Amino acid sequence: MALVTFSNPDYKDKTVYAVAGSHTETLLKLAKENKVPVNFDCQDGECGHCLVRVTSVDSKGRMGYFLTDKEQNVLKELGKLTQEQIDQLHVDDMPSEYRLACQMIVRDEDILVEY
Ligand code: FES
Repeated sequence: MALVTFSNPDYKDKTVYAVAGSHTETLLKLAKENKVPVNFDCQDGECGHCLVRVTSVDSKGRMGYFLTDKEQNVLKELGKLTQEQIDQLHVDDMPSEYRLACQMIVRDEDILVEY
């Protein structure tokens, strides 16, 4: 069972359980289900409104993950990722710290999400 803690200076932190293993639930869906006010608009990885910062609070560290081209492009446009960083993420097979909540699939890891 993954623990996802949503944190924002304007709201109280909220920790929710994610259903691990389904690999279909996005972070944005989880936030909405739990009434966490993460910003969003397009819900399709294009507008960048759902930008969040995700860090691991798991002793195992972050799990490998592949960012889609769409997500990489938006993060680049927002100035959160450089092409060099994108290239390195491919080498390391790791997600970036900044993610789009509507594109990020929740996995079996404990994370802190700053929104
Ligand atoms: Fe538009 Fe996620 S809601 S990119």
